[in-house]
Amino acid sequence: MSVRLCNVSKVFEGRTGSGPTLALDNVSCEIEAGEFVCIIGPSGCGKTTLLHTIAGFSFPSQGMALSDEKPITGPGPDRIIMFQEYGLFPWLTVFQNIEFGLRAKKMPAAERADVVRYYIDMVGLTGFENRFPAEISGGMKQRVSIARALAPDPDIVLMDEPFAALDSLTRDILQEEILRIWEKTKKTFVLITHNIDEAIFLGDRVVAMSARPGRIKETLRVDLPRPREPAVRSHNMRFAELREHLSQMLRSEVVRTASR
Ligand SMILES: Nc1ncnc2c1ncn2[C@@H]1O[C@H](COP(=O)(O)OP(=O)(O)OP(=O)(O)O)[C@@H](O)[C@H]1O
Ligand SMILES: [Mg+2]
Repeated sequence: MSVRLCNVSKVFEGRTGSGPTLALDNVSCEIEAGEFVCIIGPSGCGKTTLLHTIAGFSFPSQGMALSDEKPITGPGPDRIIMFQEYGLFPWLTVFQNIEFGLRAKKMPAAERADVVRYYIDMVGLTGFENRFPAEISGGMKQRVSIARALAPDPDIVLMDEPFAALDSLTRDILQEEILRIWEKTKKTFVLITHNIDEAIFLGDRVVAMSARPGRIKETLRVDLPRPREPAVRSHNMRFAELREHLSQMLRSEVVRTASR
């Protein structure tokens, strides 16, 4: 399923005493079906707002958001969003958390159990089905969150800084797993990150946003072959060039805002 944003602007009306915020300013972009797009940009530049627009939680003040060329009028089972802080239900087990979206789809219990087991296996959590979120590590919580997002078989998976809270080793491992899962499922993935290496390692394209008000500053095609080996992050000249380019650009963005 493809996504198209046409000249999207978003204004949040301030509460009494504070003025309105222009969170997105004339943003246009196209995401192809099956593409992996990473969005990067300084804090507060409107990344989450952009993702929520695709999810159907936030509506453009101006412009249009389309999925498969049809206007996005609200959330739908075709688009799933993974929140930054896992968003797991603490009173449900790993199994029940992953099953949650399938119940909403009214899938029979036996079929649900098969689907849940398939995804538990895919994210490497076999044996942990009956644990509660409080009884597993942050990395495992993120795996549950990935399985829960994929189980209802959405076309588009939207991820808001999914690995931000993890240590760097767990982060590297989960990046490799998310790539493997994307290659296997061929769904459309849109992932927000603050991490340049993560954006380059994962993405077909990296969309870099400017500091508030959020505009698209540059869209960079990541011309590294796939499948990408973990070592590409440290041993590839082209990777280093792309990193340097994005790093310069984001730095100039932060400096520009700081001097305003
Ligand atoms: N519901 C809201 N009401 C009012 N203002 C909002 C709302 N949501 C976001 N904003 C404002 O819009 C701007 C963009 O916010 P957004 O959360 O999209 O940024 P972000 O790029 O995701 O930031 P971060 O990297 O810190 O997560 C910010 O100035 C924020 O304060
Ligand atoms: Mg955000």
